[in-house]
Amino acid sequence: MIRNVCDTGAILVCMSVLAACSPRNVSFNADVQPILKQHCFECHVPDGLGYNASGFDMSSYETLMKGGKFWPFVIPGDPFTSTLNTLVEGRANPSIHMPRGRDTH
Ligand code: HEC
Repeated sequence: MIRNVCDTGAILVCMSVLAACSPRNVSFNADVQPILKQHCFECHVPDGLGYNASGFDMSSYETLMKGGKFWPFVIPGDPFTSTLNTLVEGRANPSIHMPRGRDTH
């Protein structure tokens, strides 16, 4: 599938690369967190709307990998199944598309 190169694409690439443990040196702090900060932190840090609803805190690598209240949203090495990618890529029901209320395509 051909898609526009946009910030969301960059998230997916970073997450996939991280998840697959590619030899390319990708750093959570340098490469991934700035994107999450711009698009997701407003709601997914403690006391945010998304955090309160799902328990998902993206402010550190540990909490990002931990996921929500009950299960992880990022599955290492499996970008297709990971909930985070499913939502950002619009493969889930549009009502739960992330970032919420914004068009990323
Ligand atoms: C405007 C607020 C807002 C923003 C910005 C936002 N989210 Fe969310 N997020 C929510 C809310 C609220 C929920 C709880 C589920 C729902 O009501 O849609 C949620 C839930 C989630 C979930 C868990 C879904 C589940 O299965 O429980 C994931 C994963 C997620 N968001 C990822 C992201 C990512 C990645 C970004 C940034 C690209 C993002 N969100 C930006 C509000 C937001």
